[in-house]
Amino acid sequence: MPQVVRYTREDNIGVITIDYPPVNAMGHPVRAGLMEALQQGQGDVRASVLLLVCEGRTFIAGADIREFGKPIQAPWLTEVVDALENTDKPVVAAIHGTALGGGLETALGCHYRLALASARLGLPEVKLGLLPGAGGTQRLPRLTGAEAALDMITTGRFVPADEALSLGIVDRVAEGTDPKAAGLAYARELAEQNAAVRRVREREDRLAGDRGSDIFARFRASVEKKAKGQFAPFRCVDAVEAAFTLPFEEGLKRERELFSQCMESPQRAGLIHAFFAEREVAKVKGLSRDTPVRDVQKVGIIGAGTMGGGIAMNFANAGLPVTIVEVAQEALDKGLGVIRRNYENSAKKGRISQQQVEERMALIHGSLSYEDLREADLVIEAVFEDMAIKKEIFGTLDKVCKPGAILASNTSTLDIDEIASVTSRPEDVVGMHFFSPANVMKLLENVRGSATSDEVKATVMALAKKIGKVGVMVGNCYGFVGNRMLHKRGAEATALVDEGATPQQVDKVLTDLGYPMGQFAMSDLAGIDVGYRIRQERRKAGEDIPPSWMDKLAEQGRLGQKTGAGVYRYEEGSRTPVPDPEVDRLIAEFRQEQGITPREISDQEILERCMYVMINEGAKILEEGIADRPLDIDIVWIYGYGFPAWRGGPMFWADQIGLDRILGTVKGYRDSVGGEQWQPAVLLEKLVAEGKGFADL
Ligand code: 3HC
Repeated sequence: MPQVVRYTREDNIGVITIDYPPVNAMGHPVRAGLMEALQQGQGDVRASVLLLVCEGRTFIAGADIREFGKPIQAPWLTEVVDALENTDKPVVAAIHGTALGGGLETALGCHYRLALASARLGLPEVKLGLLPGAGGTQRLPRLTGAEAALDMITTGRFVPADEALSLGIVDRVAEGTDPKAAGLAYARELAEQNAAVRRVREREDRLAGDRGSDIFARFRASVEKKAKGQFAPFRCVDAVEAAFTLPFEEGLKRERELFSQCMESPQRAGLIHAFFAEREVAKVKGLSRDTPVRDVQKVGIIGAGTMGGGIAMNFANAGLPVTIVEVAQEALDKGLGVIRRNYENSAKKGRISQQQVEERMALIHGSLSYEDLREADLVIEAVFEDMAIKKEIFGTLDKVCKPGAILASNTSTLDIDEIASVTSRPEDVVGMHFFSPANVMKLLENVRGSATSDEVKATVMALAKKIGKVGVMVGNCYGFVGNRMLHKRGAEATALVDEGATPQQVDKVLTDLGYPMGQFAMSDLAGIDVGYRIRQERRKAGEDIPPSWMDKLAEQGRLGQKTGAGVYRYEEGSRTPVPDPEVDRLIAEFRQEQGITPREISDQEILERCMYVMINEGAKILEEGIADRPLDIDIVWIYGYGFPAWRGGPMFWADQIGLDRILGTVKGYRDSVGGEQWQPAVLLEKLVAEGKGFADL
């Protein structure tokens, strides 16, 4: 076993090396080892400068998150950082990979900092519902001034090495891939110059200019806008402000108080659950980690519509060539035009360069012939939800595509097995369900059919990572995990409007909970025709889907944002939903036709009916093995539908509310509202009877 922290010497440089895979987090063994190594370095008369460097893929990635919520063993991280700073020999940190959170704070305790050009630095604690708690809020502004410190600490943004240099966070950027070699060279220079110890805590020059300025009020206002409902971002501003109003030691104390408040907040628990859940979903139950994956170099997409285009962009962004097949030149040109416009917009916002726009466009080819898919390793069908059309397409793909090609459908609801049944290779057929807008939303719901091979499952999970998505493997059923739950919520939301609520009242309850948009604003974004077509398909299949005022919207051509009007209306060029009296009239007319007398509906009823119906459905999904674990559902909702991560996902949130309370309410609606959606899930009843939560599964 390699030692977690070791002290060695190279000529007159004392080298402290941390080796604690996977990411050198500052767990107890590192903290204790670092204290000991530091003492050795201090006492080593032949070492004139000390170098702190890490083995493996990265510099310290932060405090050890796994220790949170448990009693922390001494020495604390703050003590380690203080000890580094108080050392009377110069200490140099050599950063590679990422220096994050407690890792960057450790580097800020050092007297000199070097970063490899490829390194990134950040204080992402806010994303875990925390603030930097080892002096970061007091030391960073002493190097950068208020603006950059507030920006980094309230957003958790990673800054690249060159930016860190210009902000004054690091003293030098070095080329190459060997942090130890670069660090040694710098340390030797410093030793030669007899460089002095420099403590960040003693610096005052960057503070003076921002004292008493309105910058803190400005950031509070911006946090109010961008992080509504969240606790930690405000505490981050409070903590940074303390650096400007209090002496260093008292500022540290204030930081500690605020850190403790965050630590105790349920939002911290939710965000840390989401952090680990995001990593857990990659580990698919029953799929061994060494399952071989197929090499995917060329991608085909059927359909140049909104989804097809967005999906194509993901692969082009990752450097993979894509061929999009359409039926008519006009549709193809239109689709390719939209892709270019999206890229141009990103370039205008400075997210990518004009050269990248051209490089990515050059990877995307349009075609009117399936013959051009002969070489594709993966083809994703992204046409609208019509089983007959999908079957026809898969029949053709089966004939055209080479053996071993993966045939995927982006269907959001339809049966993958039925689609696979028209091919001679159902083991190669899988669902790859992207979320709209497909180039933005991070979720990729990978749907296993009953015959899908392990190799194909492993490949689509690996592909998710490659294109920067979070892949979740789910089972095959109507709507899979996400849309199955969404449709329950949608039906309930629509019924609430039937009964007397307004669409904007329903939406406000959902946005107050933390969703970026409500049910109806989302329908307008996705297109009213999408849901309409799904309902019509189900009616065709003989299902009893009651008429809805939403059908009337579709029939009147109010298809949502794309036609300037749907549930809401939209001003030219704006995406802001505006309530429309015409829709109120249409709803009133519908109620009259159906013989419904509208009643006053409370926000609490809206919250319960929209959310508990989803949780009940989520429990059924678990019971049936469609989702392997509650955390899979949480991730689907956080990354597919913008469920607030700080609530941990719907199943985590349900545990916080208490399953007994939820079950009682579900039973209440079974008796008052009725319908199969309010039949309590067997699993829910079982967990309540056993006094357990979803987390116990
Ligand atoms: N503590 C404990 N485990 C951690 C960790 C941390 N800080 N950061 C990552 N890990 C674990 C992951 O859970 C994962 O474990 P697994 O293999 O068992 O699933 C493993 O390390 C590898 O992580 P990733 O899969 O995320 O690897 P990537 O290479 O994609 O990303 C990373 C690496 C950029 C470092 C990313 O893991 C990350 O962003 N980590 C969190 C960084 C962070 O938030 N730091 C702040 C912590 S809070 C803090 O420091 C408080 C202080 O102010 C007092």
